[in-house]
Amino acid sequence: MQVAPPKTPIAFITGITGQDGSYLAELLLAKGYAVHGLVRRTSKLTRSRIDHLTRDPSIYGRKFFLHYGDLIDGTTLRRIFAKVNPTEVYHLAGQSHVGLSFEIPESTCEEVAMASLRLLEICRDQPYPVRIYLASTAEVFGDAAEVPQTEETKFRPTSPYGCAKAFMTQIARVYRESYGIFVCNGILYNHESPRRGESFVTRKISRTAAAIKLGIEDKLVLGNIQSRRDWGHAKDYVQAMWMMLQHTRADDYIVATGGTHSVQDFVEAAFAVADLPWEKYLVTDRALERRLEPTQLVGNPKKIQQNLGWRPEHSFENLVHEMVEADLQDLASQKARA
Ligand code: NAP
Ligand code: GDD
Repeated sequence: MQVAPPKTPIAFITGITGQDGSYLAELLLAKGYAVHGLVRRTSKLTRSRIDHLTRDPSIYGRKFFLHYGDLIDGTTLRRIFAKVNPTEVYHLAGQSHVGLSFEIPESTCEEVAMASLRLLEICRDQPYPVRIYLASTAEVFGDAAEVPQTEETKFRPTSPYGCAKAFMTQIARVYRESYGIFVCNGILYNHESPRRGESFVTRKISRTAAAIKLGIEDKLVLGNIQSRRDWGHAKDYVQAMWMMLQHTRADDYIVATGGTHSVQDFVEAAFAVADLPWEKYLVTDRALERRLEPTQLVGNPKKIQQNLGWRPEHSFENLVHEMVEADLQDLASQKARA
């Protein structure tokens, strides 16, 4: 038997400590949601991207709550769902590094593919309808069959991570069609911010440019600098996630800018912000190149623009500028404290 959903929207976010989870939590809190997040037990209590929320007594424990759990622990996830009764689930957690997925394919597939299925099964048993967002990716297109890609483009992943996300995206479609579950796949292209993990190329570049400027480091070592990506800003992309779950009909959407830049373009722009000659500091190392790279990942965002009215607010230049400035400030204050 289904019961009426609560009046205040209740969001449950997996991956709340990550780049996207932290921006999404802020967005939903500003919209009046009660926000619950899944966190893993770690040896340190610091969760830098959401510490400002847990330290605020007007928010934490009132409208912002954290629950210990893990994607591979279905019993605990089910218990959290029974306690929280979310109206919207944003499933963002999982191993998110493409290159690393070649080193740890089994755990990547367990976390990305099987855990998503586990969550869909839990949502199927909820006492009232729940809306689900799944964090799919451009990597499902891999060796892309066409350029730019649309929601209809064939999946041809080129990494264990891409394969696992392809499974997740397909199984969600099956659950939507066979059980009538409101589940949306956001097929997101690369999105970055000052909160981006330091092992991803954009943050590695912005952080190192800032470190060189402050005399902390003397070179930037990268793999393939000719690689191109469709880079947007994470704040724009979490807005798209929320928009998908507010629509009357569940569907899959590409979220992208429609344009690309090379890794070298990003280096040039970042070093220009730091006012440094990039050629003097950039070193390439073949050991950092991937076994297999996707070809020409660029998304066509027409469907989300037309159906949901989504428009990104940040430009590439604006993104690079914000990232380098944030790293300059952060490293300068660390240096001053040392
Ligand atoms: P991220 O910064 O790497 O965050 C990943 C989050 O997942 C972290 O909160 C991490 O927790 C959590 N997590 C990982 N394994 C877990 C487990 N076994 N149990 C519970 N939590 C676990 O990733 P992001 O950039 O925010 O991306 C969010 C999602 O979107 C990911 O699924 C990613 O694959 C997908 N995506 C990202 C992009 C992009 O360009 N950013 C594009 C397309 C799709 P800890 O803090 O404890 O490590
Ligand atoms: N990480 C990294 N480090 N990448 C490098 C480096 C380096 O030193 N040097 C060159 N690259 C190149 C990679 O080979 C790749 O072609 C490109 O920079 C981008 O790499 P990442 O920033 O690691 O991102 P990604 O495109 O592999 O994956 C990100 O975007 C996907 C969506 O398209 C991640 O956020 C995934 O989770 C996401 O699904």
